Amino acid sequence: MKFFIDSADIAEIRDLADTGLVDGVTTNPSLVAKSGRDFLTVLAEICAAVSGPVSAEVTATECDAMLVEARRLSAVAPNVAIKVPLTWDGLKACRALSQGGIKVNVTLCFSPAQAILAAKAGASFVSPFVGRLDDIGHDGMGLIRDIVAIYRNYRDAFRTEVLVASIRHPLHVIDAAKIGADVCTVPPSVMRQLSKHVLTDKGLDAFLADWKTTGQSIAT
Ligand code: E4P
Repeated sequence: MKFFIDSADIAEIRDLADTGLVDGVTTNPSLVAKSGRDFLTVLAEICAAVSGPVSAEVTATECDAMLVEARRLSAVAPNVAIKVPLTWDGLKACRALSQGGIKVNVTLCFSPAQAILAAKAGASFVSPFVGRLDDIGHDGMGLIRDIVAIYRNYRDAFRTEVLVASIRHPLHVIDAAKIGADVCTVPPSVMRQLSKHVLTDKGLDAFLADWKTTGQSIAT
């Protein structure tokens, strides 16, 4: 499974990228607004910090205007992936961009039918939002299960990777991995939670306390 960081906070992204465990980044207009920074500047910095795809979302709603924005965003760095919403205009833009060799992430996916359209449009990634579905009492992970099963039926025709988005906690990541989703885009706080276990901390404290009683040093 690949890990993307869902953030436009360059300090957080650099810090997590240093672990060598980050395969890409996703941003969205809300995350850019939260960063309080110029979009193209922050996008360039993120693209330099990670070698994998960095999703940058268009804000136009009509296909031709999306394509104009996509060209501007793509010019920032070779690892920019263009994010378009799951609308008919977004799907048309996805098809045009994909045919031109540009990676596209079709976002705001909330149903298997939408995911089928994204794959038909040649998307490199489809982003189903599990947390937002859970928030309204729907089965977010059930959507991931359905999309992965459907794409497996058309392995040769559908090359779209399932990018699990709107992740709220480590259990979402574990469940997505059990299903076999390709990518999880994880907020920095959840990424940090993934390594945590109370017994790891407790066990390490005990090992170090016992080691101290030996008076030995490995390095010297
Ligand atoms: C995905 O690419 C989106 O940026 C993101 O996962 C949305 O998550 P949210 O529901 O926490 O805003």
